[in-house]
Amino acid sequence: MENAFTRRLGISCPILQAPMAGGPATPELAAAVSNAGGLGSLGAGYWTPEQIRDAIREVRRRTDRPFGVNLFVPERTDTADEAVAAMNAHLNHYRARLGIGPAPFTPAHAPSFEAQLQVLLEEGVPVFSFTFGIPPADAIQAMKRRGTFIVGTATTVEEGIRLEAAGVDAVAAQGSEAGGHRGTFLGDAGDALIGTLALVPQLADRVSVPVIASGGIMDGRGLAASLALGASAVQMGTAFLASPESGAPAAHKRMVLSSGEDATAITHVYSGKAARGIRTEFMQDMQAYPGTIPGYPIQNALTRDIRQAAAQADDPSLMSLWAGQGLRLATAQAAADIVRRTVAEAQAAIGNLSKLAGQG
Ligand SMILES: Cc1cc2nc3c(=O)[nH]c(=O)nc-3n(C[C@H](O)[C@H](O)[C@H](O)COP(=O)(O)O)c2cc1C
Repeated sequence: MENAFTRRLGISCPILQAPMAGGPATPELAAAVSNAGGLGSLGAGYWTPEQIRDAIREVRRRTDRPFGVNLFVPERTDTADEAVAAMNAHLNHYRARLGIGPAPFTPAHAPSFEAQLQVLLEEGVPVFSFTFGIPPADAIQAMKRRGTFIVGTATTVEEGIRLEAAGVDAVAAQGSEAGGHRGTFLGDAGDALIGTLALVPQLADRVSVPVIASGGIMDGRGLAASLALGASAVQMGTAFLASPESGAPAAHKRMVLSSGEDATAITHVYSGKAARGIRTEFMQDMQAYPGTIPGYPIQNALTRDIRQAAAQADDPSLMSLWAGQGLRLATAQAAADIVRRTVAEAQAAIGNLSKLAGQG
């Protein structure tokens, strides 16, 4: 299943494992996917520079194949201190339920993007992908000089055009089915909920760099369909969430394997930014919150201790269970088996379609 894009990256099938920050995208998962011929990826957005360096080296101990590292382009939020304090006080009720102490008000903490980028440059990672915006031009230039392949995330055609103009080598088209945070950086995330089937061909018509289809792709049928739409490859997240190599907490994996296509919703109550996940009691409750939900990354920092304690307690009701709409097709197969099965299914689907065309 090679094409110009896979040859450029040095991979043997057009399957990228989605970078999944917050635990699922471990070095084990990335290396397993890369060793199977796809492109594994670390979701490094929340990691400190030291954690990123360690994870990159761990991937390299496990594979000599190409892999990617993903970061979050930083953004500012102007939430008033009073709103942050009110939210923090409100969250104490969940903390009490989990048996953790009330958290003091702490300013939002997100690792320095510049310091994270510096590690990627020093380590010379084969692929750098990003979401939530466009990095400064000098950062893109520095990556290019280092020979790194650059992938930006778009949820609309306009975002894809801006990314191409900024110099990316490929655009990941994130359809509304996708699990996790929305990559939207122009306008309102609610206006950028374009399904993968609609987004990919419209974007492929308007940019000259390769398009990577992402959102709701779970098997070879999705891969074959994406190639037919004009994508050069697919990026699959939810499909790998319940694999043994994924670092998602047990309760998250359990919920992925037992939920259907109608189980998810888009919410900003966990992080202050729109993201798709399996509906939980926390999501339901917080919809009735009378105050202002602080923006990203403040709300994300405020809810972190709750999400982590809930995962420790194996209580999915207060966890963020990011997942896409393809849920019913998720399996607990090993990552390499998911890659191989997806390729075999796509080849079969394309073969069947070719016969159909022959009969026409
Ligand atoms: C648990 C989870 C975490 C994610 N974290 C990131 C991330 O750190 N960076 C990123 O660019 N995309 C992230 N995404 C979005 C994926 O890149 C991709 O758009 C999505 O997984 C595709 O949809 P699918 O889950 O239906 O395959 C995440 C998705 C999930 C499910």
